[in-house]
Amino acid sequence: MTQTPSWWQTGTIYQIYPRSFMDGNGDGIGDIPGIISKLDYLRWLGVDAIWLSPIYPSPMADFGYDIADYIDVHPIFGKLSDMEQLIVEAHKRDLKVILDFVPNHTSDEHPWFQESRSSRDNPRRDWYMWHDPAPDGGPPNNWTSFFGGSAWQFDEQTGQYYLHMFDVKQPDLNWRNPDVREAMYNVLRFWLERGIDGFRVDVLWMLLKDEQLRDNPQRPGWKPGDPPYARQEGRYTEDQPGIHEIVREMRKTLDDFGERVFIGEIYLPIHRLMHYYGEMLDEAHLPFNFQFVTTPTWEARTIQSMVHEYEEALPEGAWPNWVLGNHDRPRVASRLGREQARVAQMLLLTLRGTPTCYYGDELGMQNVAIPPEMMHDPQGKDNPVNSRDPNRTPMQWDDTPNAGFSPAGVQTWLPIASDYQNNNVAAEQQDPCSFLTLTRTLLTLRRALPALSQGTYQTLDQDNANCFAFLREHEGARYLVVLNFADAEQIVKPLPAGQGRIILSTHLDREEDVDLAHLQLRAHEGCLIKLA
Ligand code: NOJ
Repeated sequence: MTQTPSWWQTGTIYQIYPRSFMDGNGDGIGDIPGIISKLDYLRWLGVDAIWLSPIYPSPMADFGYDIADYIDVHPIFGKLSDMEQLIVEAHKRDLKVILDFVPNHTSDEHPWFQESRSSRDNPRRDWYMWHDPAPDGGPPNNWTSFFGGSAWQFDEQTGQYYLHMFDVKQPDLNWRNPDVREAMYNVLRFWLERGIDGFRVDVLWMLLKDEQLRDNPQRPGWKPGDPPYARQEGRYTEDQPGIHEIVREMRKTLDDFGERVFIGEIYLPIHRLMHYYGEMLDEAHLPFNFQFVTTPTWEARTIQSMVHEYEEALPEGAWPNWVLGNHDRPRVASRLGREQARVAQMLLLTLRGTPTCYYGDELGMQNVAIPPEMMHDPQGKDNPVNSRDPNRTPMQWDDTPNAGFSPAGVQTWLPIASDYQNNNVAAEQQDPCSFLTLTRTLLTLRRALPALSQGTYQTLDQDNANCFAFLREHEGARYLVVLNFADAEQIVKPLPAGQGRIILSTHLDREEDVDLAHLQLRAHEGCLIKLA
């Protein structure tokens, strides 16, 4: 890397799900004053930017991803002035603030949709995706919603169907309409003028749909009860011709305000994902790389090939990024177990590229079983197994009732994990071997060592199929990362000959010189080693 890197390249992003981070007013739901009260914690932890899932006015059919007003704040989260204060307070602490921008759909309660649905000749009719019924009166085609059922909803008043790729209360905007584009870019400008440092753009690869409305192919093997979003291939609803022009327009809008970051939520195979950097690197800075979130198998060889192929596929000059968890997928500590999740955390924070950490994953928070009567998520309506509520539970701050998230006696919007008395920020801050101490130490080292934040990456092929090893190097400083994916001791080889010094083990109990010809790792151990 020759130029001085940007904050979004060397830094770590921390995702906050505002409903669940910190309840500042004692109503059982997290809010912006709550986030402000925890900025010092985030500074202590060592992250560089916070990304907030939506905070806008919304009927909450999809917990804020159904926006009724893009330029205000939902009263349960606070006021616009609270958001302004958050920006000021975060910047004082050298933390950047990234907002979630949801351009594919609005809420059905957004005034634009209210106008659009009022009559066929309303000037905003074409702002949404209205179509006539099929000849038999049914929906215009076979497209299914990510939350289950047809993606089309019949509207009695005007006799047409509207498209909703998500909930029926999330009508899709028509991004072929230039007025829609301009209105949405004005939303970006509104927040950029208020000092927002960038956006994570929701379902960026889905904004355009096939104009001929061709049917999507069904995925073989899908059966009722499986995740509804996996039912069809998105051949005619995702990654459509023309999308890159829109992505470039969004980027241009951000660039007009200086150094702001553009992150794209895109679930695509890596070769198609790479196009979202733009041919001239003029699209997203960071098209989210979800390979670690979606991988069905977590074993050393699979992960090694993923990293290697991704590195190879990156266009010249494009900056990598890695994600381990988010509000849509099960918690990493539940997928891999808490012990292996420590190895995964070391991987995330030592790879080349911007890491994104989901709130609570720094503690090893796990999915929480939610009783059916407390379930909220629309994605779980056909089968509770697909609900995302278990990975959105309140942050565990301390061992007081309600885990310090809400005052004692308040009913929190989702239940608190039963293990909160042991697994919480306050307890883990005191424990030199805790998950939190590991995360913080990794973040501290990542800040201190340019080899980790901006050095080169090289895979080191291993004889041992349970181990993954790689080298990070910057201006002559060389660091080795060796990870054991197995539940048993392993010998790691081959490694570069000579001596090294373990500067961090995921078990947090050894710092020592080692002969790299005989490196042993304990079960679920990862080590960061400084080479002589
Ligand atoms: C992706 C978001 O991450 C998810 O939470 C949401 O339900 C859909 N987009 C719809 O906005």
